[in-house]
Amino acid sequence: MKPLVSRDESVDASLRDRLDSEVHVWREQLDRPDAERIKLYSLLSPDERERASRFRLSRDRDAYVVARGRLREILSFYLNRDPAGIRFRYSPTGKPALASGQETGGIQFNVAHSYRQAVIAVTWNRRVGVDLEYMDARAVLPIADEFFSPGEKSAYAKLLPEERMTAFFLWWTRKEAFVKALGEGLSVPLDQFEVSFHPGEPAALRWTGWDSQAPDRWRLEDLALDPGYTGTLAVEGWEWTLVYAGEPTAHETDLWEGNAGHQKKDHPESAY
Ligand SMILES: CC(C)(COP(=O)(O)OP(=O)(O)OC[C@H]1O[C@@H](n2cnc3c(N)ncnc32)[C@H](O)[C@@H]1OP(=O)(O)O)[C@@H](O)C(=O)NCCC(=O)NCCS
Repeated sequence: MKPLVSRDESVDASLRDRLDSEVHVWREQLDRPDAERIKLYSLLSPDERERASRFRLSRDRDAYVVARGRLREILSFYLNRDPAGIRFRYSPTGKPALASGQETGGIQFNVAHSYRQAVIAVTWNRRVGVDLEYMDARAVLPIADEFFSPGEKSAYAKLLPEERMTAFFLWWTRKEAFVKALGEGLSVPLDQFEVSFHPGEPAALRWTGWDSQAPDRWRLEDLALDPGYTGTLAVEGWEWTLVYAGEPTAHETDLWEGNAGHQKKDHPESAY
């Protein structure tokens, strides 16, 4: 796989043009050496630094700093401008977008992070949402009981016990990616639309209570991520190809390099 951006960060001039027909999904590890994290922090705006300072846990603060810093670096590849100079605006529910007046054209993006991984999806003139979750069994029951529609509850109850955890996280990330693409946050009732979630079934929006055409307009794709994570990409329209960027998954690294994959290490203390 030829990287979209080479190690010396020279950018293929056609990178932005490719977004006409592609959705780029950047997979990013959140554990970074101190020096790298400090560099990413230096790219943040005053309001982002202020937000970083409000996280109680250093792990959450570092995850925010790395994800936001990498978002700036990645957008700079497409915009051909200084990452620290990029300006964002926010929807009423908090969805970031590029502020106007930066020759942004139709660049659309969305970010998700969970535990040690982040994904950043970038495309052109298409609504896009992305979600990933580290599959923690403790999350399953409380959320399933609260948010499943009646139909989903009975479909879930028919699953084999060993299928339920995978099904739950497919359900959750497919729903959240779609909600994030709409940009309306969790103000969209989760029982007012349905997604596929039986393990082995392709990702799909099945039904929405407000638009009978929506399943024909929205394409959902499962993401290839490190073991233990589930993720979904939701994009309006069907005419695009999914292209991965950033770091390969541990599985892909094994395939390409014949090594033992990423070395997981304990989270370093915050360096700022
Ligand atoms: C958006 C939301 C679904 C994110 O859920 P999450 O699982 O905690 O976090 P994720 O890792 O999936 O995504 C976080 C990223 O999504 C993006 N995001 C934030 N709000 C968003 C929204 N409304 N729609 C889409 N993306 C959003 C941000 O880039 C955020 O990253 P950051 O915190 O580093 O800036 C959830 O926080 C939410 O619904 N917020 C809106 C609250 C709301 O709607 N309130 C009702 C107001 S009436």
